[in-house]
Amino acid sequence: MYRSFREIIELLDSQGKLVRLTKPVNPRFEMPALMKTLEDEAKAFIFENVQGSDYKAVGGLFTSMGRFGLIFNEDGNEDFTYEQAGQRVVNGIANPIPYNQVDSGPILENVLTGSDIDLNSLPAPTFFELDTGPFLTAAVGIFRKPNGEINVGFYRCLITDSQHLLINASGLSDLRKAYVWHKENNKEMKVAMVLGAPPALLMAAASKTPDDVSELDVAGGINGDSIDVIMGPDSGLPIPVDCEMAFETVVDLDNMVENTLGEFGAQYGTEHAPMCKVTSMLQRNDAMFYTLMAGRAKEHNTLGYLTVYGITKGLEQKIREAYTNVTNLAVHFDTKIGPLMHLVIAIKKSSDNEPARMIKELFEMNMGFFNLAWMAKRIIIVDDDVDPNDMDDVEWATWTRMGRSEKLHAFQDFVTWEVDRAALPDGTSARVGIDATKDMDYADDLVKPIIPNEEEVKLKDYI
Ligand SMILES: Cc1cc2nc3c(=O)[nH]c(=O)nc-3n(C[C@H](O)[C@H](O)[C@H](O)COP(=O)(O)O)c2cc1C
Repeated sequence: MYRSFREIIELLDSQGKLVRLTKPVNPRFEMPALMKTLEDEAKAFIFENVQGSDYKAVGGLFTSMGRFGLIFNEDGNEDFTYEQAGQRVVNGIANPIPYNQVDSGPILENVLTGSDIDLNSLPAPTFFELDTGPFLTAAVGIFRKPNGEINVGFYRCLITDSQHLLINASGLSDLRKAYVWHKENNKEMKVAMVLGAPPALLMAAASKTPDDVSELDVAGGINGDSIDVIMGPDSGLPIPVDCEMAFETVVDLDNMVENTLGEFGAQYGTEHAPMCKVTSMLQRNDAMFYTLMAGRAKEHNTLGYLTVYGITKGLEQKIREAYTNVTNLAVHFDTKIGPLMHLVIAIKKSSDNEPARMIKELFEMNMGFFNLAWMAKRIIIVDDDVDPNDMDDVEWATWTRMGRSEKLHAFQDFVTWEVDRAALPDGTSARVGIDATKDMDYADDLVKPIIPNEEEVKLKDYI
């Protein structure tokens, strides 16, 4: 059992969790200010009167992990955890169901070409003061990778004029690799950007899948039912029939253009992206424009957690295999403290040199096409009486168990992921290691005061 994009909007409406805004709203700054407030109040929204547009703008759908429950829970409740959402994707990757080609469907109800395409008619917000212009933030891009597989990912797009988009590709994305390959091999590249895709495809698009598995098929696996697609009339790319709108584009890799958007780590991100010519715009009748709040925003974060779920699970496993002294560990990927990872690892240590050695080795750990330091800002080693998931406990250990200044380690020689906007021109950015373990000589002086059996003594049994 699974729900479609429109069914989720109807469900949220029936549950009183959808706000309809009928007054005129300016898409430049006024609309994002309202989107932010609505996110904070856990309300989904439909803007029915965005100035300069006849389209309704919808969003605020997946602002918590629980909201993914709306897709799969028969009774429509929001009872769903990060683990459940992540595992859905993992199962989809393990059991993909190939997409199903059909001849017709809602997305073909209106096919616009040539001068009928007008991207300026979309209710796309300009979010922040220094943003270059209006962005599509909820669009998933579909393209064929050099190995022939269909790839789907979230890529933010700047609207530059009525028929052109810049499609941004991060250094972590398969899209970036495809740009490089097409440029080097002088091959034409096409990307279809889709808004209001089937929810399982939104989940699959956010996640990292193996090179030989398509996110379209992972979405089928997540639903237990294949995704119906038509072949785009211009691009020949598979486009889900059940989505709101789609833009087929031709990518000009010789025309890379700078653009700036307030990013998920609450920093501005300036990127260079190719100019993409929109050759057709497909839309269902009454198509709605799906938009996600940009910057450090809840809906971006919940989807973004699916991007890192697989990466963090793989990392945890790798570290446990490499170090038998590890008793527990946590990967904190929380945009409240920036766009990079903070790792906390609890160990049973046998020497005072061990944490320093581990910190260095871990930053250098090979994660495939990058080393761990590329994504990890800080590694903290704690004793096994500290809970790595509880940052209060970790802070306590850091500031109570660090007598020697050598236990603080700073590195400048690691190249960083480009979302770390503090990087120097050579691409490096400071990395920090903290040995928050007790020194062996003073271990007895630094014991954490605990009340034995505290958990078993229940106040309710006494009053
Ligand atoms: C809301 C949202 C927006 C995103 N925007 C971008 C983006 O603009 N560019 C990008 O490369 N990745 C972006 N990502 C991350 C990718 O979608 C994600 O890493 C995905 O796994 C990339 O897929 P790929 O490796 O198949 O290209 C975004 C993720 C989310 C959840």
